[in-house]
This record gives sequence, structure tokens and C-alpha cells, in this order.
Amino acid sequence: MNYHVLTLFPEMILEGLHTSIIGRAIEKGLISLEAVNIRDFALESRKGRVDDYPYGGGAGMVMQAEPVYRACRHVTEKTEGTPRVIYLTPQGNVFTQSLAEELAGEKDLVFLCGHYEGIDERVLEEVVTDYVSIGDYVLTGGELPAMVMIDAISRLVPGVLNNQESAQFESFQDNLLEYPQYSRPEEWRGKCVPPVLLSGHHGNVDQWRREQSLKRTLERRPDLLETADLTEKDRKYLNKLLANMEET
Ligand code: ADE
Repeated sequence: MNYHVLTLFPEMILEGLHTSIIGRAIEKGLISLEAVNIRDFALESRKGRVDDYPYGGGAGMVMQAEPVYRACRHVTEKTEGTPRVIYLTPQGNVFTQSLAEELAGEKDLVFLCGHYEGIDERVLEEVVTDYVSIGDYVLTGGELPAMVMIDAISRLVPGVLNNQESAQFESFQDNLLEYPQYSRPEEWRGKCVPPVLLSGHHGNVDQWRREQSLKRTLERRPDLLETADLTEKDRKYLNKLLANMEET
């Protein structure tokens, strides 16, 4: 997987992603990361400036079309085929695990990070294939959303997570939230580890964990249950929980 990030703040992208698991994946050559400074493609007459006043008036500045277009062409001239170009914007489709899975299958991905009041609409029409938001709130730029997406996509690229890490990060397995985890000591400030986890009985531990996942999803993210992979036994357990909730 090759990521190309078009940004006014390349150091933010490079510093943020060269650490931890993603940094290790870059070192191993499993993914590559290029941060392209849009400022390097400013019009000759504008001496490194890439923003201008909005036609029609109003507050703030708009990123000009040409530098963004040139930065994008600089990347797409080198890639095989035409890569997807993702514009990070609160006006986009909300990023989900299933979009992360879809994008993890691509060879190259281009992320376009906006700043100021946005980017001239004409270049967006010309180059963008996907408008993506990371949630219903407004950030100061697209860099953090691009980093969030790169993190979520990269951990799905084969070899990026080692076995222990893959087993650990299963929060969205079957579209259910993960069960709670405990480590030593057995008792901490008067709170004990659930006894079933100390029993050594794998069948009982698995059943307890499944029930905890169901309970947690029902309590915290009931919307996920609509698309969760549930067995008949899961449904019975959920109905029991719901009946208890109605009683109290
Ligand atoms: N740019 C500013 N806010 C954003 C958001 N919530 N998602 C994606 N890009 C953004």
C-alpha cells in the first residue's frame, strides 16, 4: 500500500505516522508514505502562497485550484492506473470499518487535506473520487482525519499487525464491541477479576466473553446489533437481557 498525502503541513503527517505500529510497517516496507507539500506547487506569481479571497465575499481564505491540481498530478503521473483521491471533509460519507476494508485492497491512495475555508470547487470536481468525513464535528484541517484513516487502513494490510496484535484488536469482530479485559493483580483496590477468568475452563471463558460482548454492545452501541453476526444462542441471551432491563 502506497499512501500519498497532499497537505500544507507535511511534517505533521510524517511525524505523526512514523511511530509505533505504522512506523514499523513503513520501515519493513509493507506500506509507504509520501507527504507532498501543496505549497511547492504554488503559482510562480504568488511566491509560495496557495490561498486567496473567496469570490462573492465572506470570511476566510480558499485554497486555489491550480496548486492542488499540480500537486495531485505530480502524484498520479507516477502511479500505475488512476488511484482513488480522497478529500477529507465534514461534508463527506462517514468513515467506517467497512470502508477501511475496501480501501485496504487498493495499491495507491491519495489523501487531499484542506485548510482555511476549503478548496476551490473546480479542482475538487476534477480530481476527487471520494469525499470522506471522520465524524460529525469540524476540525481545523484534513491532516488528522487522513492520519486516522491511514491508521485504520494500514492495520488491515497483511503483515502490519503481528499475531498477538491481530488477536488483540478485535473490537469489531462480528460487528460487536469487545469484552472487558483484566490483568494482574487478581484484586485491585477491592475490585476482583471475574472468577470465571481464573477457572481455567476455556469453554466457560469463551461463553462469558461472548455474553459480555453482547451486553456491552446492547448497552453502549445498540445500533450495531442490527448488522451484527448473531447466533440463535446470542439472540436468546439478548432477549433475556432486554427482559431484565424492562423489569428494572
Ligand atoms: N476536515 C474538517 N473536519 C473534518 C472531519 N470531521 N472529517 C474529515 N475532514 C475534516
